[in-house]
Amino acid sequence: MSTTIKKIGVLTSGGDSPGMNAAIRAVVRACAYYNVECVGIYRGYQGMIEGDFKAMGPRDVKNIINKGGTILKTARSKEFMTPEGRKIAHDNLKASGVDSLVVIGGDGSFTGAEIFNEEFGFSVIGIPGTIDNDIFGTSHTLGYDTALNTVVEAIDKIRDTANSHNRLFFVEVMGRDAGHIALNAGIGAGAEEILIPEEAFGLDRLVDSLKKSKESGKTSSIVVVSEGDKIGKNVFELKDYVEENMPEYDVRVSVLGHMQRGGAPSCFDRVLASRLGVKAVESLLEGKSNYMVGLQYDKITLTPLEQAIKGQSEIDLELVKVSDIVSS
Ligand code: F6P
Repeated sequence: MSTTIKKIGVLTSGGDSPGMNAAIRAVVRACAYYNVECVGIYRGYQGMIEGDFKAMGPRDVKNIINKGGTILKTARSKEFMTPEGRKIAHDNLKASGVDSLVVIGGDGSFTGAEIFNEEFGFSVIGIPGTIDNDIFGTSHTLGYDTALNTVVEAIDKIRDTANSHNRLFFVEVMGRDAGHIALNAGIGAGAEEILIPEEAFGLDRLVDSLKKSKESGKTSSIVVVSEGDKIGKNVFELKDYVEENMPEYDVRVSVLGHMQRGGAPSCFDRVLASRLGVKAVESLLEGKSNYMVGLQYDKITLTPLEQAIKGQSEIDLELVKVSDIVSS
């Protein structure tokens, strides 16, 4: 591979997600394979500003493919949002001989990478790492599959107790403004109702639907609520509303929270991370920049960062229909 790239920096930024370590490992080992140096940058863009760098070789990433979180740590850097912060970061990279970057993170991290590329002509490739699956240009972001499995396992457990007590549970899941986790994990866990930001279900429709479920003989119910859902102000208000309108139901709320971001990555996420990490390094070595590597129809593809940031990762409306049919 003919290239002018000599030293690749790798960082993780924004919310961590399972599979980030596997991606770091792939980047470091692909660099070794192609004989270019690799530098780990700690705490995302903040570490770039503080010059928190470490040279990394294949043995520095041993035994991490199976670990959740990120060994490079992560941060959301306010300083990097300023031109002064980015200038310091650029100076640090230059002083260390780093000539290109692999940024593992979500759309906020990609926005930072794109601006950095624009301002300094710095070569950047993004790897989509977030449990939310809200990035255009990839069917799966790193960590999404693992988070789905974590949520399904949690709801299975909640169902045991919901069933034993004849209770109605509202289970809030993450996803920021996207309903991918709620919709897919909800179907996988057999939820009676799934509330997502992309579909305005309405409080009255929810109560009607729950009443119908009860009339059809259901004694307990699980309602999965995406954290970005706009139906109520929050999941606790939903509970109050349903309790007022269905006094016959004993209602509880379970907010799954940050446990959804942790844990060992699934096999799917490990393989995806490995493929994306290798492709990110190969793309830089081929002289490509300002792209995100992603998965589309089981092929690793490149999408311009701008499109990845601005495009909408739409939910599959077919799944909404499937959920309605199978939860009746
Ligand atoms: O983007 C990942 C995510 O976990 C979202 O699902 C959630 O809204 C947010 O990050 C939580 O962020 P924080 O780590 O700042 O609590």
